[in-house]
Amino acid sequence: MTGFLRPNTDGSVFGGVHLGYVVVESKRLTDWDRFGALAIGMHVDRFDADALRLRLDDRACRFLIERGPAEDVTALGWQVDDHETFDRIVARIADRGVPIEEGTPEQAARRGVERLWRFPGPKGIVTEIFTTAVTTPEPLRMLSSGWVTGEAGMGHVAIVSREPEAMRGYYHTVFDSRLSDYIDENVSGLRMRIRFLRVDERHHSIAIANIRGVKIDPIRTRVQHINIQSATLDDMLASFQRVTDLGFRMAWSVGQHTNDRELSYYCVTPSGFELEVGWNPVVITPERESTWEPSTYQGISIWGHSTVGQTVLDKFAQFRRAVETARTPEITVPQLSGGLSR
Ligand SMILES: [Fe+2]
Repeated sequence: MTGFLRPNTDGSVFGGVHLGYVVVESKRLTDWDRFGALAIGMHVDRFDADALRLRLDDRACRFLIERGPAEDVTALGWQVDDHETFDRIVARIADRGVPIEEGTPEQAARRGVERLWRFPGPKGIVTEIFTTAVTTPEPLRMLSSGWVTGEAGMGHVAIVSREPEAMRGYYHTVFDSRLSDYIDENVSGLRMRIRFLRVDERHHSIAIANIRGVKIDPIRTRVQHINIQSATLDDMLASFQRVTDLGFRMAWSVGQHTNDRELSYYCVTPSGFELEVGWNPVVITPERESTWEPSTYQGISIWGHSTVGQTVLDKFAQFRRAVETARTPEITVPQLSGGLSR
């Protein structure tokens, strides 16, 4: 429990939810093993012939890489701090007529949780919630000295959306997410807006990017990037060097973000979405929380983050005239997405 005084008497679940794990479907388990262990510096366990687990801390699993064709994130696992908060979330789903079902014991075992429940999420990314993670006494064997998790969860996820208001509405309805700030960035004459949402003390656990006024999504994967946070600057820079030395693709070199001041770089995972490895972002402590007001920053980075190869910004520029007409609508889970107009 932190200073957010959970469970909140106003019925909010804010502060009681944290990004717990990410499920990836990939055929490239050998590449993920090498990428995770030797480049990024995470602990990698071979769970069975069809699954890898990547650890950052004493949890048995932070990334589950399951064998399959998608090369994408298929589910996000959210830790809920207590059963009262859990019951509130489940009631919101059920009351709105959205199916929620318990995961199988095998699914729970793979993810390193005691039990989990699953329900539909934006862009077809399944939302999973759990209260009790499995920890392991097995020491971490990894090149990094450590990762920042704990009350801030394991990191954040960034998603490009053609329906950003609906997606923001979803996380507001389900988790009482709060808007930390916006970033506006011009991309070859197009105006990109990113909304940063927090559910705990991490400045954002979810970032939602869109081009204003044009429904385009040039990213093949449902998730544009996942972020994890190095314990030290030396760890972050050493992993940057290993990623380069081992021949994995870099997307953005080291730089610093305008809003949460995080130093980071972005590289490309074996599944094609990006991994941002960061250090020292602003933490929205309970003291800051009480007075926090969202603001709008112009530009993603104060310095650095120069592009290496093609980036999300280049892809947006290429899609300048690709106004959505032919593709199917984005999955929004409308029962859980209403109520916010910004
Ligand atoms: Fe990020």
